[in-house]
Amino acid sequence: MRELLWSDALSLDMPAMDDTHREFVDLLALVHHANDEGIVACWSQLVEHTQEHFDREDAWMQQTAYATGNCHAMQHQVVLQVMREVLRRGREGDVAIVRQIADELALWFPEHAQSMDAALSFHLRSVDFDPVTGRVRNPAALPEQAITGCGGASCSPAGPHSGTVEAQAARSP
Ligand SMILES: [Fe+2]
Ligand SMILES: [Fe+2]
Repeated sequence: MRELLWSDALSLDMPAMDDTHREFVDLLALVHHANDEGIVACWSQLVEHTQEHFDREDAWMQQTAYATGNCHAMQHQVVLQVMREVLRRGREGDVAIVRQIADELALWFPEHAQSMDAALSFHLRSVDFDPVTGRVRNPAALPEQAITGCGGASCSPAGPHSGTVEAQAARSP
């Protein structure tokens, strides 16, 4: 069992994102500590929370000049597909796969938060985005071309603010 614990290293200086990420860590911990009878219900809760979590970040990207189909949104889609497939198999009685993918998520999440989500957080702050209203208070800071990159480790330098130290740090392994 590979449990993920919250730490300051996961904080991205954006309360609306950090609160959701803390909830994700808490729900994943419930999965890790669940017994065989309770684990599928805990996993289901995590899947629903993750759908909302990713939908919210995808909407923020759409509101701040990311291209549809950018690699951050694509990674969300793939991870959710896997989580939903695992839920289906868990409901059929395969709790081992739920435990296995929960372990994988504990590895995946810090990498995602510290690369793709960190770059998104930096971008949202640089355009002075209000996550409550969806308003961009500094539209002049939006890029002229839609963002297809994401600041993730596998991304080309076409990501948001690709020349910045933050984006370079976000891309480094
Ligand atoms: Fe996130
Ligand atoms: Fe994300």
